[in-house]
Amino acid sequence: MAIDLSVSWLGVNMENPLYNASGVMCRSREELDAVAASAAGALITKSCTLSAREGNPEPRYATAPFGSINSMGLPNAGYEYYLDYAKIYDHASGKPLFVSISGMTLEENLTMLKAFRDAELPCLVELNLSCPNLPGKAQIGYDFAASSHVLSEVVKVYDKPFGVKLPPYFDPVHFAEMASVLNSFPSLKYVTCINSVGNGLVIDIDQESVVIKPKAGLGGLGGDYVLPTALANVREFSRLLDDKHVIGCGGIKSGREAFMHILAGATAIQVGTCLYEEGVDCFARILNELAAIMEAKGYSKLADFRGKLRTM
Ligand code: SIN
Repeated sequence: MAIDLSVSWLGVNMENPLYNASGVMCRSREELDAVAASAAGALITKSCTLSAREGNPEPRYATAPFGSINSMGLPNAGYEYYLDYAKIYDHASGKPLFVSISGMTLEENLTMLKAFRDAELPCLVELNLSCPNLPGKAQIGYDFAASSHVLSEVVKVYDKPFGVKLPPYFDPVHFAEMASVLNSFPSLKYVTCINSVGNGLVIDIDQESVVIKPKAGLGGLGGDYVLPTALANVREFSRLLDDKHVIGCGGIKSGREAFMHILAGATAIQVGTCLYEEGVDCFARILNELAAIMEAKGYSKLADFRGKLRTM
């Protein structure tokens, strides 16, 4: 059976639904080029700020028993670097380029959004409302009034379709409250669920120590630790949002988790920890595994099972 993994959404045509999670393999041109040259269906830049940032002190990423922990602190080359990359990127290559923005203030976000708007490039923006690794700064996505305010200001200056990267939510009341905020912005066309599960603590029992330096060891969890939470967020936002796409991110390391995210409602899916650990070859492997699962189940395209998770 011919398996078609392609996905078309918001005018974006992807050969397959897989791309990097912002933060992994996307800080430098060389890394972005490597994702572009891989089997991924798209690529996204590292969340950028107005000026370049070194990020938090090292070590700031560690492999953990069931995934990873990181407290990178938004190391990035500054938005102009990614804007320049978007200007020279071959948008006709068939691999859409997404741009992640994560200003340290609302004003920074507005300045960067205006610059991307004025450049008139065929890139979709993912506005990051959920970095958990900035000491002293709360994740905007956990403050519904602040999220609403940010989005109200964003849509005043940015008239193109855009998306937001959300933190994980853990309570049905919070899913509903955030969905109601997001539903009041028609040009907000997609959400990415989830960012890392913020401020976990991984302990090395031999060393009797934390495993990363920033925030006394607290960091965002990824990998197996977060899969059920990611799936819950994908499924709940798929149900609660009007006419918006959900991009799944969290715990995808094989075709099985990719299948689960799409079954829960994801339009496309991003890979973080597994990409960090395995490199860009993971895309071809995961896609082959996903195609094999689909074939075994008799599905020829993603729409055959997307969002069709059964409940009891
Ligand atoms: C980081 O750079 O600290 C990660 C960014 C994020 O999780 O949003």
